[in-house]
Amino acid sequence: MLVLNRLLTHTFVERMMLSRRRVRLIFIEKDAARFDHLRRVLTRRFGPLEDLPVHVDLRRGEAKDAAAVLTEVRAWGHPVLAIFDSWGNVNVPLTVMAQIARNRSSEVITTFGPNWFSRRAEENPEALDMVFGGREYWQAAEREGRPDERWRAWLSTYRDALGRAGFAHRLQFQVVPRTGQPLYLVYGTNHQAGVEAMKDAMWEVDGNDGMSFKDPRTRGAPMIGQMALGVGPVQDELLELVNQRVQQAPVTLGDLGIWLLLETARWRKQDAKRAVRELVDSGVVTIEPTGRLTARTRVMPR
Ligand SMILES: C[S@@+](CC[C@H](N)C(=O)[O-])C[C@H]1O[C@@H](n2cnc3c(N)ncnc32)[C@H](O)[C@@H]1O
Repeated sequence: MLVLNRLLTHTFVERMMLSRRRVRLIFIEKDAARFDHLRRVLTRRFGPLEDLPVHVDLRRGEAKDAAAVLTEVRAWGHPVLAIFDSWGNVNVPLTVMAQIARNRSSEVITTFGPNWFSRRAEENPEALDMVFGGREYWQAAEREGRPDERWRAWLSTYRDALGRAGFAHRLQFQVVPRTGQPLYLVYGTNHQAGVEAMKDAMWEVDGNDGMSFKDPRTRGAPMIGQMALGVGPVQDELLELVNQRVQQAPVTLGDLGIWLLLETARWRKQDAKRAVRELVDSGVVTIEPTGRLTARTRVMPR
């Protein structure tokens, strides 16, 4: 509903040349009552769906059959954004993800509900084999015994799986609403520009309604919400991540920026400089040559 609303009320809607042939929104819902509810809600909000300038296609079905649906509507060869937001029942085979990854300009977003990580024992192992592409890929996560670490282990296991599916860049993060349960999200794309667009969007919503994002790879860092770009102290999370990276091996400032963009949940290229400046000031890292920071400045552990 949000996507459809954003699309139809977008400032540049006139320039988008929306047509029912060019833009298709396909909703796949397996539950009969929710399927009917969805149709009612969309019709109430937008009027008869047949009259909309984009094609809205509601289907009763299983998310794992998404590839067959995409074949049926002849989507292959056209950009696809596949959002698998199933309330923690992530059952889409990795082969489907791989088909999407191979398709031109296509991306996926998969969400995990908070219970997903604790209820693994109830899931049948064959289903997980399909989702992760083999038992050997998810068994280590299953062995993670510390409750606080389980979501981290599973999320990075899923992130790795999207890599095997063919997505060059993957972001993983925890979305924390002001009230209610957190949501876990993994995003896969083959384009650096996609990562940049995703992060810009996160920075736009971050702080609104108390919503915040957290990178699973930082532990001690406080939850960050209400962040104002470019003002205030450099965030602890950013410093922790940059320090972790530099301690692994020396890196140029330019490469550090690309690492932040592609490997961390929220940080962008431009954040590398201010983080390095702060870490140099606090004596944690050194730079060479000293003086002005440029893309070629080497950053090393002290
Ligand atoms: C979190 S809601 C989706 C919300 C939607 N993305 C939105 O933004 O409004 C999850 C829905 O997925 C449905 N669902 C869960 N598992 C599914 C599956 N394997 N295939 C299709 N639908 C599924 C549930 O019945 C539920 O209605």
